Amino acid sequence: MTLAYACGKVILFGEHAVVYGRPAIAVPVTEVQAQAYIEPGPAGQGVVVVAPDLDRRVIVREAPPDEPLAHIVRGTLRAIGRGSDPDLTITITSTIPIARGLGSGTAVSTAIVRALARHLGHWFPSQAISDLVYQTEVLYHGTPSGIDNTVIAFEKPVYFVKGVTREIFWVGRPFRLAVADTGLASPTWEVVGDLRRRYQADPTRYEPLLDRVGEIALAARSAIVQGQEAELGRLMDENHALLQELGVSCPELDRLVAAARQGGALGAKLSGAGRGGHMIALVTEETQGRVDMLLRLAGAVRVLITEIR
Ligand code: MEV
Repeated sequence: MTLAYACGKVILFGEHAVVYGRPAIAVPVTEVQAQAYIEPGPAGQGVVVVAPDLDRRVIVREAPPDEPLAHIVRGTLRAIGRGSDPDLTITITSTIPIARGLGSGTAVSTAIVRALARHLGHWFPSQAISDLVYQTEVLYHGTPSGIDNTVIAFEKPVYFVKGVTREIFWVGRPFRLAVADTGLASPTWEVVGDLRRRYQADPTRYEPLLDRVGEIALAARSAIVQGQEAELGRLMDENHALLQELGVSCPELDRLVAAARQGGALGAKLSGAGRGGHMIALVTEETQGRVDMLLRLAGAVRVLITEIR
């Protein structure tokens, strides 16, 4: 029997712009996680993935090529050099809310890769896990930047430029985030696709906005490394305003962002694809209680506080 986990994530800066080659920053959220548990199955069954919370059972050898759970299993077995179909049952559970920008699908894929590798006596470096998971990310949302699989595979704060660099960096002074759920699904592929259509119709309108988001991510990295909280908060506010201009926020997210600021957060913004999902607010030990309360009053269905270190 083998058990493996993967954490959730939030994008701190640069969502969407990262798809267009601008830098972005993401951090792991270890308070939530996906878990993959492997046990031997009956002879001849092959690999079966069971997700009891979703009422799903996928027989890998019978699943279509684009079924994500089967896809990640096949990719991992291929990478390990196991062409055969071992008789295994993989049970998936997760405390990461689905389709809310916290990386639930990515974490499930990562947990499956880790569990299968461990069970079959193989070791993958984090980059290999990230690369494998990326192949399945493409099924979920078409043109992923790769930032989600990177931060979840490495479980460290990451500064990321698609196809150019991924830098794990150190946090100068730990900081706290309130992470609040609008309760609305955030369909990443839809929001990313919609922005792409608008971008293609009028690139000159969007290029300067994307450039500024990229500059903010760069400035935010040094603010994080130097432990400059006030500057970090200011950059979050500016990034949110740009995301509004990019057309990926929504009234529910804007309401939570305003509530967090009213509660004394140093900055707040949506996180992930937007149009639902989560927002994040920079809080301190002193402000976190009030921010938490105001977020709930403003409609958050769940708030978690995480420390980034
Ligand atoms: C999704 O977590 C972040 C987006 O920037 C999409 C991506 O990077 O692939 C919206």
